[in-house]
Amino acid sequence: MSESLAVINCSQLVTLSGPARPRVGPELRQLAVVEDGGMVVRDGHIAEVGSQSEIERLIDKDCEVVDAGGRVVLPGFVDAHAHPVFAGTRANEFEERSQGATYQEIAVRGGGIQATVNLTRAATLDELVASGKRHAEWFIRSGTTTIEAKSGYGLTVEDELKILRAIKRLDEETPLRYVPTFLGAHSIPAEYKSRREEYVSLIIDEMLPRIASEKLAEYCDVFCEASVFTTEESRRILSAARGHGLGLRIHADQLSLSGGAKLAAELSSVTADHLEHTDTAGIAALKSAGVQPVLLPGSVYALGSSRYPPAREMIDAGLAVVLATDFNPGSSPTPAMPMILSLASTQMKMTPAESITAATINAAYSLNRGDKIGSLERGKIADFVIHDCDDYRDLAYFFGIEHPWQVYAGGRRVFARS
Ligand code: NIG
Ligand code: FE
Repeated sequence: MSESLAVINCSQLVTLSGPARPRVGPELRQLAVVEDGGMVVRDGHIAEVGSQSEIERLIDKDCEVVDAGGRVVLPGFVDAHAHPVFAGTRANEFEERSQGATYQEIAVRGGGIQATVNLTRAATLDELVASGKRHAEWFIRSGTTTIEAKSGYGLTVEDELKILRAIKRLDEETPLRYVPTFLGAHSIPAEYKSRREEYVSLIIDEMLPRIASEKLAEYCDVFCEASVFTTEESRRILSAARGHGLGLRIHADQLSLSGGAKLAAELSSVTADHLEHTDTAGIAALKSAGVQPVLLPGSVYALGSSRYPPAREMIDAGLAVVLATDFNPGSSPTPAMPMILSLASTQMKMTPAESITAATINAAYSLNRGDKIGSLERGKIADFVIHDCDDYRDLAYFFGIEHPWQVYAGGRRVFARS
C-alpha cells in the first residue's frame, strides 16, 4: 500500500507552477497561488494539487491528513549558494568588524577564509559531519529543504576531499538535500602565497581529477577577484573543470568589477554569483549567454556594506534571478532564507513574489533540479513548508522571526514547531 498524505486548509497554496524553465521578467511575480487549496502526496511525491473541495474528495481511510490551519504552504526553499561545512566560527573577527576593521584587512593579515581553513584542516571528517548536522538543522527550521554546498575550507587535496565526503554523508544522514560544488579555488592558501602558480596547478592536475573520478562534486566554483584568483587563473581552472564534466559557477564581481560576470558569460557558466559591482555590460553578457545571477544580499548586509547587486536592472534585462544565503562563517553567517527575502525587498526593491520565485523554482533550475523540486506540481518531490502566516508576503515583511510551522522533505515531516 502506498503511503499518502493530504494537506488541507491552506489559506494560500503557493505552487509556482508554470513553464518548465526558469522564470524571467514579469513571470517572477506569478506564483500560481491556489487560495483555500490543498495537496495530496503519495510515496514522497506530489500526486494532486487543487482546491480544498477537490482534495477532500480524494481523502481515503489510509490517508494521513495534515490540517494547515489556514496557513500558507510553499515549496521548501532551495538555497543555491552556501558554504555549510567548516569548523569553528569567526566571532572574534565579527567583533573586530563591529569596531571598524574591514573584511579585506582581516584577510590580508591571515584571518578571514584562511582562519577557517586552519580550523577545518584540523578537524576530522566526523567532526565536520557533526557541525554540519547542526547547520543542516538551522537550514531545515528556516524552511530550506535543498542547498548547494561548496567545499573550499580545506585547500589541500585531502582536506578538500574530506569536506566533499562530509557533504556526501550529510546528504545521506540528514533530511536536507545537498548539491556538492568543488571550491578548491576559494583562496590561495598561506603556504602557496609566494608560488600561486603551483596552487593553480595543484587544483587542475590533482584535485579536479580525484574529485571527478570519485564523483564528489556536480559543480566547480572559483572566487574570481583581482586579489584572489585572476580572470586568467579562473578561466584555466573552470575550463579544466568543464573537461571533467562539472558544471560551472563563479563568485564574480563581489568586491570589485573584476570581469567575473564577463568570464561567466564567456564560459557559459551556469551561474554568476554575488555581482555587487557588475555593470550594464556585464548584465548584457550574462543575458546573451543565459547565465543565471545568484544574488547574496546576506553577505552585503553582514559585511556592513550598502552596495547591493542591481537586482531590478537584472530583472528588467530578462535574467532568471536567483536568491541565496551564501551561508558561511565570515561574510554571511545566516542560513535563513526569510531574512534574505526581507533584504531583497528592502534593499534591492524586489517584490515578495519575485523573491520567492528566486529562492525556489529559479534556484532549482540553477542546480539542474528544476524538474524535481522548487514548485508544488504533480510528480515533483514533496518538499514543502507550512509557514505560520496566512499571506505569503509576510515571509519578507515580518523579519527576524521563524516562520516555518512544519517542514516536510520527500513527504516526511522533518520539523514541527513545538
Ligand atoms: O561567498 N567570497 C568568497 N567566499 C565567501 C566568504 C567566505 C568566508 O569569508 O569564509 C563568500 O562571501
Ligand atoms: Fe560564497
